[in-house]
Amino acid sequence: MNTHNQTLTTAFTDPDDLDNNSSPNGHLQDVMAAHMGRRQVLRSGVGALATASLGGLGLTACGGGDDDVAEAAPLLPPVLGFTAVAKDLVDRVTVPAGYTATVIYATGDSIDPTVTDYQNNGTDSNFARRSGDHHDGMHYFGLGTDGKPSLTSNTRALMAINHEAINGTVQFMHPNGQTNISASAGPRPEAEALKEVEAHGASVIEISKTAGVFGVVKASTFNRRITPRTPMVFGGPAKGSALLKTKYSADGTATRGMIGNCASGYTPWGTYLTCEENFAGFFRRGSADDTLRSAKERTAFKRIGLAQGAGGGQRWATVVPADSTSTEYARWDASKLGASTDGTDDFRNTHNTFGWVVEIDPYNPASTPVKHTALGRFAHEGAWPSNPVVGQPLAFYMGDDSRSEYVYKYVSTAVWAAADANPTDRLATGAKYLDNGTLFAAKFNADGTGTWLKLDLSNTAISGNSAYSFADLADVLVNARLAADAAGATKCDRPEWTAVNPRNGEIYITMTENPDRGSVGTTSSNNNSNPDVDAAFPRYWLDNKGVSTQNATASVSKGNVNGQVMRMRETGSLASATTFNWDIYLFASQATADIGLDNVNYQANVNLSGLTSVNDLSKPDGCWFSKASGILWIETDDNAYTDVTNCMLLAAVPGSYGDGGKITVTNQANGKPGTAGTGPVVVDTFAGKKMNDTIFRRFLTAPLGSEVTGVAESPDGKALFINIQHPGENTAPANIGDPTKYESHWPGNGAGVAAYGPGSSSARPRSATVMVTKNDGGVIGL
Ligand code: FEO
Ligand code: CA
Ligand code: CA
Ligand code: CA
Repeated sequence: MNTHNQTLTTAFTDPDDLDNNSSPNGHLQDVMAAHMGRRQVLRSGVGALATASLGGLGLTACGGGDDDVAEAAPLLPPVLGFTAVAKDLVDRVTVPAGYTATVIYATGDSIDPTVTDYQNNGTDSNFARRSGDHHDGMHYFGLGTDGKPSLTSNTRALMAINHEAINGTVQFMHPNGQTNISASAGPRPEAEALKEVEAHGASVIEISKTAGVFGVVKASTFNRRITPRTPMVFGGPAKGSALLKTKYSADGTATRGMIGNCASGYTPWGTYLTCEENFAGFFRRGSADDTLRSAKERTAFKRIGLAQGAGGGQRWATVVPADSTSTEYARWDASKLGASTDGTDDFRNTHNTFGWVVEIDPYNPASTPVKHTALGRFAHEGAWPSNPVVGQPLAFYMGDDSRSEYVYKYVSTAVWAAADANPTDRLATGAKYLDNGTLFAAKFNADGTGTWLKLDLSNTAISGNSAYSFADLADVLVNARLAADAAGATKCDRPEWTAVNPRNGEIYITMTENPDRGSVGTTSSNNNSNPDVDAAFPRYWLDNKGVSTQNATASVSKGNVNGQVMRMRETGSLASATTFNWDIYLFASQATADIGLDNVNYQANVNLSGLTSVNDLSKPDGCWFSKASGILWIETDDNAYTDVTNCMLLAAVPGSYGDGGKITVTNQANGKPGTAGTGPVVVDTFAGKKMNDTIFRRFLTAPLGSEVTGVAESPDGKALFINIQHPGENTAPANIGDPTKYESHWPGNGAGVAAYGPGSSSARPRSATVMVTKNDGGVIGL
C-alpha cells in the first residue's frame, strides 16, 4: 500500500499510516535434518551435488513428483554474481550490467482479443477484461503443454497478479481525473466508479516464452480478471456467521469480490492466495451510525479504523446506478439503514466480508474464489506457507500491515499428504487444509524467544476478555485484532511480507516502519498510546529529508524510520510449534545515518547492520526466496529515503538464525526529541550477522513515485518477475491536463525498458509487471 510523501496533499489518506490498536500490549544441518526428514535431506544432498557440478545453480527441475520443487532447494548459500546498481532518482528502471528488464503486463492491457488495445488517455473502459492497476503480489503457476499444472515448466505459465489499489494514480484512468470526488460533491458517475472498482482485484494471465522473452497470450482461455464484483464464497468457522449476513447473502455464506489485495502466497496444492489489506477505507458510514450500533459493533469498527462519518475513499457508495435494483454501489456503505435485526436488508455487515485471505484456482477460470475465515480477518499483507513436510501440519505466516499491529500464523489441523500436491479438485484440497486449523498471534519476548498465542475461546485471556465479549470462534476470527489484543500479542512496526527459507524453514518478516515507535504521547489518528522501544523493535531515531544531518526540527521523521527484517526459527523447526526464537536479520538504514552526529543529535543507534552505499535501503516491504538460487529478494516501498533514491530491489544471502548475537542499542533520544538529558534508553536485542557488500547488494531501482513489489520466477530461475506499482503517484490530480507536470511517464517513456504502450515521453504512467533476464541466459542474481 502507498506510503505517500506526507508533505503532499492527496484526496486519499494512506490507510497504512493508521494505528487502530489501542490495546496495552506491549545449527543449520541439524535444523535441516530435523525439519526436512530423511527423504528431503537426501533430495537436498542431490541438490548439493548438482550445485557443485553446475556452478551454483540449484536443483529445481528434477522432473519427479509435484513436491520436488518445494523440497529441493540449493543446500549451499548463493554467491551473488552481479555488480550493484547505484541509488537513482531518475524516472527509469535500472538493472545491473548484463541484465535486461522487459515490461510484459501494464495497467489497462487487454487480456481478450475482442477488447481494444489500451489507449492510455483516460477513455478506455471494460477493466473486467483489462489489467487492473497497482500490480502487487504475484505467483508463477507453471503450465504444461497438456494445459495442466507443471512445476517444471519454464516456458509457459499462468501468472496470478494482485491489483491492490488506485490511490494516487486514479486520475490517469479518466480523461480529466475523477468527477465528484470531494466529500461535499454529488454522486460519482457510475461509469467512472465501475472502471475504478474493476481496476482492483487480481489477474490470472497466461504467459509464454518465445525467443527468451515471456509475453502475455492474449487469446488464452485461462485469462481471467477477478474483481470486487466477482462472486465469492466463505469457508471455515465464520461461514454462515451472523457477522457476515448481508442483503447480498442472507445466510452469510457469500460475498461479492475482494478489495485491497496486497501481497500474496500460494499453496502446495497449486492455488493462489491473495490477501485483502486496506479494506476499511473503501466504506462509507453515516455520520450518526454509532448511535444505531451496539457497543461491540462500535468497538469492532474502531479496531479496523472505520469511523462513523467516513466517506469511503472513492465515494462509490454515492453512485446512483442506472439499474435501480442494483446493490453494486450500496454495498460500499456499512451504515445500518434497514429495520431488520440481522442485517439482511442492508449492508451494515459488508465490511466484515472483506479483510480475508482469498484462495483462487488459477487453472480453472470458472472456479469460485474462497475466503478462508480460519486465517482471520485483518489488514492482510500476505500468507506464506511453511515448507510442507509429509505427516506434519502446514503453517501459513501472515503480517497485519498497520502501525503497531501483529504477526499471525495459521496451523492446519490436517497433516500434509504428498498425494495432495497434485489433486483433482484443488479447492476441495484448500478446504481440507485452510478451513480447519488454529490461528495464533506472535509475542516476541525480550530474551530472544517468542510465543505463539492461540486465538480461540480455549484461551482464557480471550474467553474471559472484558473489553470485547467474544460470542464464538467466528467472532474471534472476524475480529482477530481484538482477540490478539486480549491474548497479549506484541505490537510490531507494520508487519508486511513473510517469507520462508526453502533451505531451513526459517521465517523472515519485513517490518516496514513505525513513526510511533518510542515516541512520547499518542498517535495523531487517535488516542492510542505509542509503543516503547523494546527488544524486538529497539531503535528510535530522527531523520530529516534533503539535509545531511539529523536534528529535532519540526519536519523531522522519527521512530523506526526505515524499518527492519525479523527472522524466526520455530522450535524444533516445526510448523506446529507454539514457541520460536527470533533475531533481527536486517536493520534498514541510510549508510550514513550515524556519521558525524553528536550527542545532541543522538544517532549512534541506526546503521546496526553496517550498510554501505551498495545496499542501504529504507522501508523493506516485499521479501521472497528464490527456490532456484536461494537468494532472499527484498523490495522497498519507501517515502523516507526518497530524497536520495527511488525504491529498489535488493538481493541478500539469508544466513541463518543466530548467526549474529546479542547487541546493546543506546537510544539517546527515546521519546523526547530535542530534550537534552532524557536518555539514554538502552535496549538489548538480538541481531543477525552484519551485512557486507558480498552478501547484500542493490539489484534494481524503480521509476519515480513507484514502489517495487510482487516477485516471482520461472522454476529454472532464469526469468525473475517483479511489479512496479504506482509510478507517478505524486502527480497532483489537477495536473492531469498537463503531461509536463506528471511525476512519471514510465513505461511509455522507454526508460530502462523498451518503450511500452502509447504516449512515449508524454505517456500517462502505468503500473507494470517487469521480467528481468540475464543476457547470457543464466540464473538471476548469481
Ligand atoms: Fe499493501 Fe502493506 O502494503
Ligand atoms: Ca506491500
Ligand atoms: Ca507498503
Ligand atoms: Ca506504496
